Amino acid sequence: MSLLIKGGKLVNADQSIMADVYCENGLIKAIGHDLDVPSDAEVIDATGKLVMPGGIDPHTHMQLPFMGTVASEDFYSGTSAGLAGGTTMIIDFVIPSPQQPLMEAFNTWKEWASRSVADYSFHVAVTWWDESVSQDMATLVEQEGVNSFKHFMAYKNAIMAEDETLVNSFSRCLELGAMPTVHAENGELVHHLQQKMLSAGITGPEAHPQSRPPEVEGEASNRAIRIAQSIGIPLYLVHVSCKEAIDEIARAKSEGQRVYGECLAGHLELDDSVYKNPDWATAAAHVMSPPFRPKGHQEALWKALQGGTVQTTATDHCCFCEDQKAMGKDNFTQIPNGTAGVEDRLMVLWDSGVNKGRLTENEFVAVTSTNTAKIFNIYPQKGAIAVGSDADLVIWDSTKEHTLSAKTHHQKIDFNIFEGRTVKGSPWITISQGNVVFKDGKLNVVEGAGRYIKRPAFPTIFDAVEKYNEEYGPYQVER
Ligand code: URP
Ligand code: ZN
Ligand code: ZN
Repeated sequence: MSLLIKGGKLVNADQSIMADVYCENGLIKAIGHDLDVPSDAEVIDATGKLVMPGGIDPHTHMQLPFMGTVASEDFYSGTSAGLAGGTTMIIDFVIPSPQQPLMEAFNTWKEWASRSVADYSFHVAVTWWDESVSQDMATLVEQEGVNSFKHFMAYKNAIMAEDETLVNSFSRCLELGAMPTVHAENGELVHHLQQKMLSAGITGPEAHPQSRPPEVEGEASNRAIRIAQSIGIPLYLVHVSCKEAIDEIARAKSEGQRVYGECLAGHLELDDSVYKNPDWATAAAHVMSPPFRPKGHQEALWKALQGGTVQTTATDHCCFCEDQKAMGKDNFTQIPNGTAGVEDRLMVLWDSGVNKGRLTENEFVAVTSTNTAKIFNIYPQKGAIAVGSDADLVIWDSTKEHTLSAKTHHQKIDFNIFEGRTVKGSPWITISQGNVVFKDGKLNVVEGAGRYIKRPAFPTIFDAVEKYNEEYGPYQVER
């Protein structure tokens, strides 16, 4: 299989150049002008278009068993939807139930994900602690290419990691050279506020954001950051949604801590008025955690992304249809938490980012692809248009308008949080492993063509971390 993309503008995170790209056997083989390519190579004329690294979504939950049901999007449909939106790789989450061995959960998820049509990888959640978890973490890092472990500080009585688990797991991550990541919300406080709402007779979706105010995220962000500081390890915060959390990250960074933040397309764009919709189903469709925030937090998030306090964008794609959301008809705490977006992220980010001058085209590539590849140690295999990189590309038409809608999207969910929004700038062609898998609105995918991508531990960061810890130890921040 060989493919020549001619006449486009190549956009990487560091620069844009006019050049042709030649792909062979799933890899980028040559970049330049007048390339010497086989006469039978497929040729795409990309004149007037941008050629960018395919998006990497570092936060999805395909077919997640969660809150008494299973997310409606499976790995086949979800990775297909991603390709339709220019996203060529996802990092999903293996989430063991309490007491379930990590390796058992990992093997289950790998089996499910074998239907993927695009490349994928896994973060693995640590939801409980004992010696076997510690051993499985080593197996995952050393043999299975997992370099990040997730900790839910929320979801009490389910998957919430207590401080004891955080401390043990972060310490183990340090030994293994793996990145701890956190969903930062104080689960104890959320539980308390939920009970308060219910006792007051407030049972509808409008109570969801009230039970998880920004302070709850600010406290947990600070706690996770301080634990990481004390242990002397980097930290990645998923779905940062509010000013309180941004402030904690900014403070820690200013004190020299390696803290990374991710924000979601949904949190950048939507505010909490969605929970006041008089239609119960529409309000419930927006129930996700952390919730959409009051007006003002969105602009703070954009500034954090522009200024580099947060570095990646994701979707937390976790689909539940109307009948599933209805499980919480009489009690908002039982509405399955999650919203979609794996197909929409790049278009929304381009429209609100590049079209409004908040991001350059190169910054767009950085926050949708390259930074994730770097932080999770798969760069330059992913996240770059470079000789030797995987031929995962999106050919972008910055003039093409597209209306986001549940009526037309490929996502397996009956709702779209961006319903009716017309964006300018959308994928014309998506290329995965050197194959054209999406063109002019049509998918051409092969079930199982997606590969599991191993992500090695972080030798450079952890060498530095080790030296630094030896030299200064924890608690050594100058004040
Ligand atoms: O509401 C959400 N975000 N659902 C998925 C699980 C999680 O917290 O990321
Ligand atoms: Zn979460
Ligand atoms: Zn999530």
